[in-house]
Amino acid sequence: MKIAVYPGSFDPITNGHLDIIQRSSRVFDRLIVAVVKNHNKKPLFTIEERVSLIEKSIGGLTNVEVDRFEGLLVDFVSAKGATVIVKGLRAMSDFEYEFQMALLNRKLQPDIETIFMMTNYKYSYLSSSMVKEIAALEGSIVDLVPETIRQDIINKLCTKSGGDSEI
Ligand code: PNS
Repeated sequence: MKIAVYPGSFDPITNGHLDIIQRSSRVFDRLIVAVVKNHNKKPLFTIEERVSLIEKSIGGLTNVEVDRFEGLLVDFVSAKGATVIVKGLRAMSDFEYEFQMALLNRKLQPDIETIFMMTNYKYSYLSSSMVKEIAALEGSIVDLVPETIRQDIINKLCTKSGGDSEI
């Protein structure tokens, strides 16, 4: 059985992430979406919220599960019996950072392969930070995040800024 891990901050999951999840779930027998617990970037959503938003987004994908990790990614991948790390690539700007991580992960754990999946062009401009900024400024996030979690994101950002609106 080929098990792959798709890691990230997912703060929050976007349609770009969901597209990578859907496509890689067709390539691997089992896909574990792994949400990093402690990260340099201070996330807006708690780990529980980020996991729950992903779970609400992946309905119907029976070979996909959501998990969380801390520490080295390669240690988590090995502990899960996986052999592949899936990463999404949007633009050249992603490449340098992703290339560095892939090479370092291979140095740490040579048996684990990193596989890059090109983003769908529809989502090449999309990032979690932009989604948060647009929602916080009360712009529309339709088509940017899964429909099932749109209101959760709006509620979180409105709670933060003290408002209570629909976007
Ligand atoms: O969505 P992100 O923020 O780009 O995800 C980055 C992530 C979580 C994949 C990366 O920071 C990571 O793998 N962190 C775990 C710590 C680790 O293994 N660091 C060494 C990587 S070379």
